[in-house]
Amino acid sequence: MTTASSNNVVWHQSQVDQDLRVKLFGQLPLTIWLTGLSASGKSTLAFALEHKLIHAQKPCYVLDGDNIRHGLNKDLGFSQNDRKENIRRIAEVAKLMNDAGLIVITAFISPFRSDREIAKSIIGADQFKEVYVNTSIQDCEARDPKGLYAKARAGSIKDFTGISAPYEAPDNPDLALNTAEFPLEQNLSRLLKLALVPVQAESCFMHKAS
Ligand code: ADX
Repeated sequence: MTTASSNNVVWHQSQVDQDLRVKLFGQLPLTIWLTGLSASGKSTLAFALEHKLIHAQKPCYVLDGDNIRHGLNKDLGFSQNDRKENIRRIAEVAKLMNDAGLIVITAFISPFRSDREIAKSIIGADQFKEVYVNTSIQDCEARDPKGLYAKARAGSIKDFTGISAPYEAPDNPDLALNTAEFPLEQNLSRLLKLALVPVQAESCFMHKAS
């Protein structure tokens, strides 16, 4: 039992071993962390992957930036601090969902390397798979499905990633995808390979304490 001494809260240990959940669901619960510019194709890939996994009877769930900002994170904006808190909360939610046995797919710009490092440390390095959706700013701006790049260029949205706020690309992602060069199905099959690890290849993270 661990005690958080600052506010007198105590950790309660589940009686369910992680191995049991792995057996129950027949999968290793990874977090597939998509990062890339707005309009790079993260949400399209995330929901298409979820669809494929569910049809393959693999329990999973998408955490999507725009959606989460309608509820859990609707109190947050786009300052560096708010983005950091956005990513921290999402990482904690992803960790809980992984603990419950689900494969989690996240679709957040998550522009700062340091925030993605924090997410990785919260979720666990073995379970966190970073995917760089490497669509160029030119392609994203040409798509501009929500008209946000036009607004950012006109100065009516401030701190817009790629225009007036930075995007730090991953140095060494587990996978890099380009949605302008390759068709969706090709990118999806690479994502599926990453998301579905054979249970026999079970690693030590199944046995670690929380
Ligand atoms: S993150 O930077 O904190 O990871 P997140 O993925 O949650 O961003 O939200 C990004 C979405 O918010 C974008 O796809 C876009 O629709 C919208 N958005 C609104 N304002 C901004 C902004 N200033 N910068 C980037 N995206 C913005």
